[in-house]
Amino acid sequence: MKASQLLLSTACALFHGVTGTPSPPALTYLGSANASLATPIAVGVGPLGPRTIIGITGGTFKGPRFSASISNIGGGDWGLGDPAAHAFYVDARYVMRTTDGANIYVVASGPQQDSGVIHSRVKFETGHPKYSWLNKVVAIGFEYPGPGYIIIDVWKVESPVAGKGEEGKQEL
Ligand SMILES: *[C@@H]1O[C@H](CO)[C@@H](O)[C@H](O)[C@H]1NC(C)=O
Repeated sequence: MKASQLLLSTACALFHGVTGTPSPPALTYLGSANASLATPIAVGVGPLGPRTIIGITGGTFKGPRFSASISNIGGGDWGLGDPAAHAFYVDARYVMRTTDGANIYVVASGPQQDSGVIHSRVKFETGHPKYSWLNKVVAIGFEYPGPGYIIIDVWKVESPVAGKGEEGKQEL
């Protein structure tokens, strides 16, 4: 397939939102991380708001398809606050090394909710053939800050399943 080509044939007979309530996507559990955190460094209020750097110093990831350790090198959160909205936006990146030796780069960013839970968009990048499926994953994370660590539950978004919509079935 050329890079410019989009696969259209697989998108037939799905419910979509143009003519009715679309079919909901399913979520598949990918795993949970416990990332250990360094003492936050407050940079102060710059042009974009109050910036806080929090180093990621290690940790673990465990899931049904793979387990990994989180590298103590190069990982951190470059989060930004919005004092007027009492909001904090995570902007984290780190590297996981799977138990069978693949390096996986992770980027996770998103807002902390009023409940304290952070909702993040999680992206994976790797050149390891066994884990190349992760490059195509669209994932969301629910992040629970603890004292000196953060727990991150990660879910893979699946395509809506034909036949699950309430109305508006349409051939694309
Ligand atoms: C996460 O890992 C830290 C060690 O870095 C540990 O103290 C903490 O209990 C762990 N949290 C959970 C919920 O397992």
